[in-house]
Amino acid sequence: MDVYGLMGNPVEHSLSPPMHNAGFEALDIDATYGTFETHPDLLEAALRGASALGIAGVNVTVPFKQDVLSFVDPEEIATRIGAVNTIDFGTDPPTGYNTDAHGARRALEHHDAEIADSTAVVVGAGGAARAIGYMLADAGADPHIANRTEHRAVELADDIGGTAHPLSAVGSIIETADVLINATSVGMEEDASPVREEGLHEGLVVMDAVYSPLETRLLRDASAVGATTIDGSWMLLYQGVRAFEIWTERDPPVEAMRSALRTALAD
Ligand code: ATR
Repeated sequence: MDVYGLMGNPVEHSLSPPMHNAGFEALDIDATYGTFETHPDLLEAALRGASALGIAGVNVTVPFKQDVLSFVDPEEIATRIGAVNTIDFGTDPPTGYNTDAHGARRALEHHDAEIADSTAVVVGAGGAARAIGYMLADAGADPHIANRTEHRAVELADDIGGTAHPLSAVGSIIETADVLINATSVGMEEDASPVREEGLHEGLVVMDAVYSPLETRLLRDASAVGATTIDGSWMLLYQGVRAFEIWTERDPPVEAMRSALRTALAD
């Protein structure tokens, strides 16, 4: 049996085990996915141990996404983003991937959002925003980054060839934008939005990286003006779908994975 899992700290509330296990079951693959809570001081030992034990692959989450870069051979976009969220131990050295960028793109594509030549606003400048920002730039969008701590917006915008803004400017820049993505934690388990309602409009595609609750305040406000909304389960799903594809080299059973994820999110 092939063993996969999630390395991070904490990991106990992860939705990845039900999602990947449903995928293995749907394709009748003899594999299992669990969680590996890893002590922050033992990352290198954990990676060497995983490799030595024949673990097939892992996802990597907070706080290790940056630190694992030095222990793997990273794909090009993972190097540019500066973070790895998926490792394949089937190579020597193990290969590091960043499937967050791919996940964000597939989530938008699934909803027929046009990214090429779009004006796209990302709120946030942390790890999630970096992955999304590079994806938008690679896909030919004109990316705008707005962040509470403005110098972080400037750094990310410089890295991806986009434009930086203070968070207070979001309301006006979205008036002429096509896509708005929340890559902050604002709205997670709270009725708050990083964007005031005024600038939201019908022609906007609004995607939220927050998936708890699924209908965030931002998405509720966006729905109210007739905008297209994409909840956080889609990015979560498609980053997992991409990892599944890398590990198994099979066509991922997206519907089975999506259904398991929705069930786990409802629990
Ligand atoms: P992740 O890896 O999930 O992106 P992160 O690197 O900690 O997490 O980034 C969190 C993002 O949410 C940052 O852009 C952060 O803004 P700052 O750079 O100013 O810290 C943003 N964020 C978190 N809480 C926020 C709040 N209450 N208002 C606005 N932005 C917030």
